[in-house]
Amino acid sequence: MGALIRVQHAIDSSKGLCVVIGDMGLGKTFISRKILEKLQADEGKYEVSLLIVIHHEITAAWLIKRIALSLGIEFPAEDKSTLISQICRQLIQIDDSGKKTVLLIDEAHMLQLKEIYEELRGLLNVEARNHKLLNIVLLGPPELENYLQLDPPLVSRIGLKFTLKPLDQKATAGYMSHRLKVAGAARDIFTPEACSMVFAASRGVPRLINTISDNALLEGFLEKKEQIGPEIIATVADSLGIKKPDEAPPPPEAPAEGAKSKDEPPKKKKVGDWYYT
Ligand SMILES: Nc1ncnc2c1ncn2[C@@H]1O[C@H](COP(=O)(O)OP(=O)(O)O)[C@@H](O)[C@H]1O
Ligand SMILES: [Mg+2]
Repeated sequence: MGALIRVQHAIDSSKGLCVVIGDMGLGKTFISRKILEKLQADEGKYEVSLLIVIHHEITAAWLIKRIALSLGIEFPAEDKSTLISQICRQLIQIDDSGKKTVLLIDEAHMLQLKEIYEELRGLLNVEARNHKLLNIVLLGPPELENYLQLDPPLVSRIGLKFTLKPLDQKATAGYMSHRLKVAGAARDIFTPEACSMVFAASRGVPRLINTISDNALLEGFLEKKEQIGPEIIATVADSLGIKKPDEAPPPPEAPAEGAKSKDEPPKKKKVGDWYYT
């Protein structure tokens, strides 16, 4: 869980602004909740809140009011400059009590106005006794980076940027087996080929791995299977409408003499219209 450790380290060293980028289903919301839980569990050390932005017509005034409320300001002022000074006072108070203030914002790409990023930069600049008082963690898909560019000085203040990547084939199998164990399974229900097929169909995206595996388990149960092989995965991936990667047909079964090299990619196998390695 590289993102979690990095973000917590950035917060502990008061880096100010952290940005977590990841395509859909790679685990941004999962991570934001994990960070929230972890920091909340560290009692008395952090004042942490999570905002989830749910539409893109949000204004700077709305966001600042939400921030004020989440910091525990009971009566946020209507007037913006009064509100900002209320927030500053609150940040100082939290700092006085020995806590770090952390604001997590999920779906941050829904923040689409230059003014919003300018205000966030203003809050990030609030200092007392020579240190910053606020840490902001923005989580969003790659397009978030374009919105951040609305305020270039903010981009230059990014203290940590982490990009989530899909799992590789080995990690996909590990993740599937971990989920099964957590769910109470005593043995590996998916054959190694099924795991490979899940990787091929999901491209290592955790949300897709979950959906495909859950549907395959149900299918396997209905078909009274002891184990789930690649055929069920292919059927499930098709019925979920998962797009097949554009790929060339597999190489011929027996490569010409001498053509085999150490770096030769593993041979692809086919089930239904799906290829896996
Ligand atoms: N590192 C991880 N460990 C375990 N499960 C994960 C991890 N990352 C993502 N998931 C799972 O994948 C699913 C999709 O992740 P989510 O956080 O909703 O993605 P995003 O917000 O990036 O679209 C979640 O339901 C979660 O269970
Ligand atoms: Mg999400």
